[in-house]
Amino acid sequence: MNRTIHLTLSAADIREKDLTGRIAVVIDVLRATSVIVTALSNGASWVKTVASIEEAFQLKKTGILLGGERHALPINGFDCSNSPLEYTTERVLNQGIVLTTTNGTQAISRCHNAAEVLIGSFLNHQALATYLIKKVMPVELICAGTNNEFSLDDFLCAGLICSSLEKSGKFKFDDLGKLAIEKWEQSQSDIHSALQDTTHYNVLKSKGLISDLDYCLQMDTHNIVVSGDSSNFFTKKA
Ligand code: MLT
Repeated sequence: MNRTIHLTLSAADIREKDLTGRIAVVIDVLRATSVIVTALSNGASWVKTVASIEEAFQLKKTGILLGGERHALPINGFDCSNSPLEYTTERVLNQGIVLTTTNGTQAISRCHNAAEVLIGSFLNHQALATYLIKKVMPVELICAGTNNEFSLDDFLCAGLICSSLEKSGKFKFDDLGKLAIEKWEQSQSDIHSALQDTTHYNVLKSKGLISDLDYCLQMDTHNIVVSGDSSNFFTKKA
């Protein structure tokens, strides 16, 4: 029997969902989940997501880097901002990363009932889809969105993941999943154009973070599955 994939459109909508016994895939393309995938891929030992700046400072010690942003800007006293380009092998190898961001890490923390939380991005979409195809549990794709509102970049990534899953013939999709596939198919030939009038894309652009946009909108560059429990994330074999 085909498993149904459900979609959640923003972090605000997670509260309404019962994720018990489900795999939650959190997607915050710009930029939290792209950062987590990059840091672990470049050799960080683990990533812990926390809600507040204060909590992050309490966890600071040797071998741990603090990363994140507020309103897309670096946080005073932190080691890294929320630019995935800062999470190089030289910087993160064998380090633990404590990450706090405006939307992505908050969305992740709301998935505490889920059986497993996976990290989704354009960078690792294929590895993630391959992993999901092998599992048997129901799947909820959660678009983190921006400030509790819908964000097209996350929805397109959800569409791409759904479209990869569809090819396996093992899944069916709720109406939002079907819409996400359709929107992805319309947008895939030029994703920058598809996002050029959208809010979060333009916030990052206005702050000069064009290289972050170029980086986060690359497809399938990281063959890595990132799994966790709504706060602690590790690399998992696909
Ligand atoms: C977030 O989690 O709010 C985002 O990743 C913000 C950003 O860095 O652009």
